[in-house]
Amino acid sequence: MTLAKFALSAALMSLPLCAAAQEVNVYSHRQPDLIQPLIDGFTAETGIKVNVAFLAKGMRERLAAEGSRSPADVVMTVDISRLAEVVDAGLTQAVTSDVLAANIPAEFRDPGNQWFGLTTRARVIYASRDRVAEGEVTTYEDLTDPKWAGRICTRSGTNSYNIALTSAVIAHHGEEVALDWLKGVKANLARKPQGNDRAQVKAIWAGECDISVGNTYYMGQMLADEEQTAWADSVRIVFPTFENSGTHMNVSGVAMTKSAPNRENAVKFMEYLASPAAQEIYAADNHEFPIAPGTAASELVQSWGSFTADTVNLMDLAKLRPAALKLTEVADFDG
Ligand SMILES: [Fe+2]
Repeated sequence: MTLAKFALSAALMSLPLCAAAQEVNVYSHRQPDLIQPLIDGFTAETGIKVNVAFLAKGMRERLAAEGSRSPADVVMTVDISRLAEVVDAGLTQAVTSDVLAANIPAEFRDPGNQWFGLTTRARVIYASRDRVAEGEVTTYEDLTDPKWAGRICTRSGTNSYNIALTSAVIAHHGEEVALDWLKGVKANLARKPQGNDRAQVKAIWAGECDISVGNTYYMGQMLADEEQTAWADSVRIVFPTFENSGTHMNVSGVAMTKSAPNRENAVKFMEYLASPAAQEIYAADNHEFPIAPGTAASELVQSWGSFTADTVNLMDLAKLRPAALKLTEVADFDG
């Protein structure tokens, strides 16, 4: 549905006659084609129409500006920081649901039921097939080893994915060690932080560096893009762990808006998204991991290997975000 159509249906919904319409309105930070199969599946199962407004950015600002008149029932986005942002701004409401509690592991949902993770992604190391031996890098702590001097590429330290990773370093080791870690990684960089996660893999392919940090699903995206297949083929995924723990995870997730005009339908939609079948579709579309009990990642994603996920609660990482940002600046990571 186009934005114009959505605006129209939003206007119609404000008429009392339409208050009982079987609809649910979604503000999505996720690409329309990614969530379309879920929308089709939900409507086929329930008869409830789903209107989606795709927002590349400005979710919080828009919800705040619309206030109680907002037509949005549900927001779908990625990264714990974006979920925490709308929750902390008081723009969401708690949803108590046995289905959501049963299908979503505790570490991937808010203890106060304000947000729910739907899929996860791991922040991993992309390693050159030619220049990095099996087992040469196994932990996030390893990245500060002087043997990597001039061999690491990364995007900006202030990018939300990297801030979440730095938050995890703080959660495991405290701020002092996290600052040393940032300085140590910076000292090993082949070039100033720049570009997105895929640009780092391209740099490995071009011989500019040997390892990079990136989210798992970008491997799937590169393999699906003719121009980027060679980049993907030049690397393998290593699932690093924190010493004595697991691999850093982040989520895509969903929350109900505070003003949700179609609350009951919104609960049904959220429960549908958490159902094992919907989770597997959603996860496979973007090469992520489903989290409901009994679900499995796509064959491609499974081919990247198995790993142990870090169990630190994502809400704790969200709380450490300001500290992670501060340390990244103190370390002058991007400088
Ligand atoms: Fe991404």
